[in-house]
Amino acid sequence: MNQSLTPYADALNAFSERDLVRIIVPGHGAEGGGVPEKLQHFIESKPFHKDFTPLLTGLDKGAGNPLDQAKMLAAQAWNARRVWFLTNGASQGNRITALALRGLGEHLLAQRSTHSSFVDGLVLSGLTPEFVLPSLDLQRGIAHGVSAAAVDQRLAELSERPVAVYVISPSYFGAVANIEQIAEVVHRHGLPLIVDAAWGAHFGFSRSVPDNPINLGADLAISSTHKLGGSLTQSAMLHLAEGPYADQLEPLIDRAFGLTQSTSENTWLLASLDIARHFLANGEKRIDASVEAAESLRRLVRETDYLELVEESFKAFPDILTHDPLHVAIDVSGTGISGHELKEYVANEHGVYFEASTHNSVVALIGAGAMPDAARIVQSIEHARVVLGRETAPTANLAELGIPIPAAGRRLMSPRDAFMKKHEIVPASEVAGRISADTLAAYPPGIPNLLPGEEITEETVKFLSAVAASPGGFIRGAVNRNSTLYRVVSD
Ligand SMILES: Cc1ncc(COP(=O)(O)O)c(C=O)c1O
Repeated sequence: MNQSLTPYADALNAFSERDLVRIIVPGHGAEGGGVPEKLQHFIESKPFHKDFTPLLTGLDKGAGNPLDQAKMLAAQAWNARRVWFLTNGASQGNRITALALRGLGEHLLAQRSTHSSFVDGLVLSGLTPEFVLPSLDLQRGIAHGVSAAAVDQRLAELSERPVAVYVISPSYFGAVANIEQIAEVVHRHGLPLIVDAAWGAHFGFSRSVPDNPINLGADLAISSTHKLGGSLTQSAMLHLAEGPYADQLEPLIDRAFGLTQSTSENTWLLASLDIARHFLANGEKRIDASVEAAESLRRLVRETDYLELVEESFKAFPDILTHDPLHVAIDVSGTGISGHELKEYVANEHGVYFEASTHNSVVALIGAGAMPDAARIVQSIEHARVVLGRETAPTANLAELGIPIPAAGRRLMSPRDAFMKKHEIVPASEVAGRISADTLAAYPPGIPNLLPGEEITEETVKFLSAVAASPGGFIRGAVNRNSTLYRVVSD
């Protein structure tokens, strides 16, 4: 290979010149109202001069240093006792959470549809999870959230007392759970509530968006500030509430933070968190403008006779209290194209970058302050429909597949033990009864069907094979594309 080339940097440079509609993270959207003015100035003026190593007097060393002040301002803005600035995403927040909770005991109750970084946290910490299932929209192949009643019931059923309850809100599709009620239930059981609010960094900063989980009773909230809060990619925050569990959790989080944060944390990312906090805390009008931009997109979607808003089906799910207006999930079944095909087509042909797709939907994310061109988004979908549309869209519709989502297999080992032991690859026909070494999640609906340490059942193999073989279906974490091979713990 030619060592004079810099292929990634060159491609990134060229890519950055494209005229894109960025309804994708990072929420700042590169230009316009989503980019905090202070961040624009910070990046434009002498960027190299601001790239420093940590532990310098006048920056982050000594009592009352500016970095500590920035964190205190963030704690005040989120109504938290304390905030940690993370330079490895909300993924780091999830790993810290799992490591910290292990300091309280061994068992945990978690929403089954956790992000993979939380499963990584289970592997790192040795925590043993029990699960509460989210509600499912089988028609659309989407997992939502959990209700207070479902959490209460699971807590009553458990034989081992968990150290905490862990839920996710908002969901990828913008469904918001009733955190206030869930917190009441969890606290009645004498436990702390942890909320992965990665998609809700902007919550609580305007009356037109839902409140932040700390205000609603959560004891710890993981927030991915770069997603919709205006900071740079990979920067995130962890918020600890002032409450009955804070004294116990704070030193545990501190230790887990030390274990996961680089000793050379990036000054640009830290500064972008400080600026994003300033942007959000003073940004009610900007957030409202983005909500209005999202409404324009919704209006145009409603005006077509072939698109629907996914949120219009949320009323049917008791676990969904409301939805985040900055998540616009669009059902595209009426175009005759799968969501995956459509996402790819409008990105390549029109420069319209949706955040996510399922077999029948695409998700647009609008960062706080951003105002994407709604007309261009809907026109790009219309163009895709004209060029690629068929009578009926190919689907991986779980309801039509007719195979129920299998119950989780017995846990025969902790996720950590299963991850650490020797592994082998086994064909699907011989895998029933073996212990999974991997996390496998069929999309739709994206809930882990297997976690490390769980027994692989015939039903699970049948389900995963059926989804893998259906149009648009895929198995995240599988050894191969059609999921005919499994990584298992060696006997
Ligand atoms: C629910 C949830 N939690 C955590 C994360 C990890 O966030 P980050 O990309 O900031 O590491 C994600 C990422 O998409 C997520 O969806």
